[in-house]
Amino acid sequence: MKSGFLEKLVSRLDRVEPGEIQQIVTRLIQEKGFLENVFEALQEGLIILDPEGRIMFLNRASCRFFGLDPSDSLGEKLSTKIRGIDAITLTKSKQAVSRDIEIFYPEHRLLNFYLSPIDDAKNHELPLGHVMLVRDLTSSHAETQENLESERLNALTLLAAGVAHEIGNPLNSLDIHLQLLKRKLRKLAPSDRKNLTEHVDTARQEIQRLDTILKQFLHAVRPTTPSREARDLNAVLNQTLNLLEPEIASRGITVNLDLSETLPPAQIDPDQFQQVFYNLLRNAYQAIAGKDGSIDIRTRSTDTDFLISISDNGTGIPPENMGSLFEPYRTTKTSGTGLGLLIVRRIIREHGGEIEIQSQPNEGTNILIHLPHTAPSPRLLPSPTIDA
Ligand SMILES: Nc1ncnc2c1ncn2[C@@H]1O[C@H](COP(=O)(O)OP(=O)(O)OP(=O)(O)O)[C@@H](O)[C@H]1O
Ligand SMILES: [Mg+2]
Repeated sequence: MKSGFLEKLVSRLDRVEPGEIQQIVTRLIQEKGFLENVFEALQEGLIILDPEGRIMFLNRASCRFFGLDPSDSLGEKLSTKIRGIDAITLTKSKQAVSRDIEIFYPEHRLLNFYLSPIDDAKNHELPLGHVMLVRDLTSSHAETQENLESERLNALTLLAAGVAHEIGNPLNSLDIHLQLLKRKLRKLAPSDRKNLTEHVDTARQEIQRLDTILKQFLHAVRPTTPSREARDLNAVLNQTLNLLEPEIASRGITVNLDLSETLPPAQIDPDQFQQVFYNLLRNAYQAIAGKDGSIDIRTRSTDTDFLISISDNGTGIPPENMGSLFEPYRTTKTSGTGLGLLIVRRIIREHGGEIEIQSQPNEGTNILIHLPHTAPSPRLLPSPTIDA
């Protein structure tokens, strides 16, 4: 119903039939109900404010975002209901404003709101109020952060691998020259030779050490293509356990195996998977200090994935370390390289799988590997659900 029509109606109200008025009011109520339904159906939060900044209308989404109850919010000032937002001050310049806001109650969310004055066509001085549109940016923000993070890590890894590779060549040449020097030293008198030879040997040892660090690093970060063959995961696990058996037995640790007997063969690179299990089992027994230590190993197969879990009742991982477990050289051990888990994750990802770590300080750690039966092929994603 156009507003011009209503204005005309008001001007000749004394001449309108009561029946006609009833019809018009019914239509107005229907239109109001329709608009309210449209506002309620919006995924965005919508709040309408009067010129004093009091809430005249708010839809369900805005109540959800800000944890508001319509019954005690209507008629209240927005600034008292949502701290940090004062519509009047924000739109002092009579311009629309768009701002991001981080809220912590009822849920931690990152929101963007757009506040715009509702202009009165006749009175240019005073707006009729403000309309506020609120969008939830939480998940897209988290996604952007994740993408940035993984891009940063990729760039860093590539750069580091490049530098490490370039350092390898001069190191090699240094070692060759030191070998030549050592040969020439043999021609000196034994009294002069001894001291100098010791220096050269120390220098060569240090070069060896650097070379080992470089090789380990490159091994950890360089992508490889797994050479897959059909293998029994349980068998690869058992082989690795045999390798580590002396270490595990000497610490008096019990290993409980719960291996599925109906596991189909897995398409894996057996050497790489032996390395995965080796690194994880070593971490597990190294985390067990006292007696009654145990490591539980379980394998299962779902319709699509193999699930392998390795749990220990060791020291566990403090929450503050959980975020940096896969960072290179992050170790809490005096003789650790901090590359073990990075290598594990790289191999699992190259097989299309994922690794999950749960840990409770003083209780233990559980590592869960999801490995798809076959290399992933494109799949249609389910259509997004719309929550009310
Ligand atoms: N099962 C576990 N229990 C407790 N802490 C663990 C466990 N697995 C890993 N961690 C923690 O994660 C850190 C990183 O592990 P990662 O295997 O990458 O390196 P590392 O074990 O320290 O060195 P390396 O593997 O070269 O011996 C460890 O130093 C340890 O603090
Ligand atoms: Mg390790």
